[in-house]
Amino acid sequence: MRHLLDTQTLSREDALQILDVAEDMADTQRREIKKLPTLRGKTVVNLFFEDSTRTRISFEAAAKRLSADVINFSAKGSSVSKGESLQDTAQTLQAMGADAVVIRHGASGAPRTLATSGWITAGVVNAGDGTHEHPTQALLDAFTIRKRTFGDDSRGRDLAGLKVAIVGDVLHSRVARSNVWLLTTLGAQVTLVAPPTLVPQDVSGWPARIEYDLDAAISEGPDALMMLRIQLERMGAAYFPTEREYSRRWGLDAARLAALAPGSMVMHPGPMNRGLEISADAADSARSTVLEQVANGVSVRMAALYLLLAGERSAPENRDTAPLTKEETR
Ligand code: NCD
Repeated sequence: MRHLLDTQTLSREDALQILDVAEDMADTQRREIKKLPTLRGKTVVNLFFEDSTRTRISFEAAAKRLSADVINFSAKGSSVSKGESLQDTAQTLQAMGADAVVIRHGASGAPRTLATSGWITAGVVNAGDGTHEHPTQALLDAFTIRKRTFGDDSRGRDLAGLKVAIVGDVLHSRVARSNVWLLTTLGAQVTLVAPPTLVPQDVSGWPARIEYDLDAAISEGPDALMMLRIQLERMGAAYFPTEREYSRRWGLDAARLAALAPGSMVMHPGPMNRGLEISADAADSARSTVLEQVANGVSVRMAALYLLLAGERSAPENRDTAPLTKEETR
């Protein structure tokens, strides 16, 4: 794997490899000493043109636990136009010897531009680009679903036969897009639940069914109900009458939580608008995987960085298929 730009073009084989290596990484994270020497001497740059708490910290923790050097570059507020600033910044990173660049950008497609521009030789990881994709979020979501469903027996398994409902602001959500592609690649059935105004125009080309009624979707007994944040910062116009009306029809409240099938999990990528798309009861219930998602995010990002940097690039012997050597996990 040279870059991780999207899940739309990620093969089932590569996705399962990332999830399985993430299982190995998660095992190492249960130890008292969490640091592995695997990426010693490599430099990972976190290049964030958009706000982020979880994702940036998660990538930083992942890189540090693999002993890479980490440079955090927050480019918010730059006055240079986006294209120019990206090229300038990329060339600076190249001159500094970055081995991997983790990029979050407001423009859909910016990570691909960076990866294919010839400006840098580093591996590029998309940490969220506009409303396009957020592949590591989908991978950590798939990891979380698999772990809750199969526990210690997760390795090698896909999500065939599982039903996932993704609920809310699908229109503005790169998390929804990445999940639709990845979860269906892994064999799950995906239903999108949203008000008609928050369903994307191009949705007919997606491998997902659309449902407008959350109660109907819940009555079908999904294995996972993934609530999306209402992205008020990306909304110029009014997409729903009032916040209260939105919560009443598409929010996960206590009554809907109680109506969920036994064993079905409640997910949210964070940050949550408590009281809008998800009630505190739901967010803090035993069904909620919110904190597991955060913890699993570090393992999944460790796996992605490892496969990008310790894999094909240096590969003494098939390093991209053999996860960790005994020495590395010691
Ligand atoms: C998501 C994002 O930034 O796309 N958050 C995240 O990465 N944890 C979802 C969101 O902002 O709603």
